[in-house]
Amino acid sequence: MKKTSEQIAGHPIVAPQLGRSALSWRHGYGTDSDGHDTNAYFAPTRVLTKDTKSLIIYFSRSGSTELLAAKLAKQTGADLLEITVRDPYPARYLETLNRANNEREGGDYPEPDLNLPDLSQYQTIYLGYPIWAMTLAHPMVAFLTTHGAALAGKKIIPFMTQGGYGAGDSVQRIGHLLATQGVTADLLTRPLVVNGNAVDLADGEIRRWLAQLEVEANE
Ligand SMILES: Cc1cc2nc3c(=O)[nH]c(=O)nc-3n(C[C@H](O)[C@H](O)[C@H](O)COP(=O)(O)O)c2cc1C
Repeated sequence: MKKTSEQIAGHPIVAPQLGRSALSWRHGYGTDSDGHDTNAYFAPTRVLTKDTKSLIIYFSRSGSTELLAAKLAKQTGADLLEITVRDPYPARYLETLNRANNEREGGDYPEPDLNLPDLSQYQTIYLGYPIWAMTLAHPMVAFLTTHGAALAGKKIIPFMTQGGYGAGDSVQRIGHLLATQGVTADLLTRPLVVNGNAVDLADGEIRRWLAQLEVEANE
């Protein structure tokens, strides 16, 4: 497992995709994880302060989205909350793929393992996830289905890592999942999309994307 030099909530981030060449990375196909959705050695990330107005809520299986969340937190000062599920995805990629395929076909999403804190202080929520089968990773589907009401009236800013095939329908899916619960939120339609093997190089991209958001907010 590749430990990065970066930390989140005081513990090291392990992200085995980083630095892999396109040839060996194969768009993320075959990436194993720690078998605990980044939480084999440390508790799920919680950085919740009293006065911060922005919160990053993320799920990550093999650490790349976690690293992106950490970098975003550094640049924005946002708080952090990691989504976990009761039954984490297997370390082996193919087992995870099989499970994810079954879940998708059965519409049977995992149960979140989360006591959601009071989100009323937050105006902006950055939502971070890996792309699975050209859409949201299932724990994010489960989170939005279970806790979507807590996002009502907030600005939602999606960011993601993926294997090179892009955002798929993930942003529309966020809107749809919220709408089916009667939740109205201000959903940003220009997400940050980063290749899972190159998040360590993404600081400039994150900075430019955030600057663009500032421009939009002030228009
Ligand atoms: C079950 C599964 C399905 C995936 N499907 C896609 C996909 O459709 N398109 C894509 O570009 N990447 C896909 N990927 C690759 C991940 O999006 C990519 O490896 C991502 O960086 C993983 O993030 P994480 O390290 O935070 O878990 C898939 C990965 C898994 C585990």
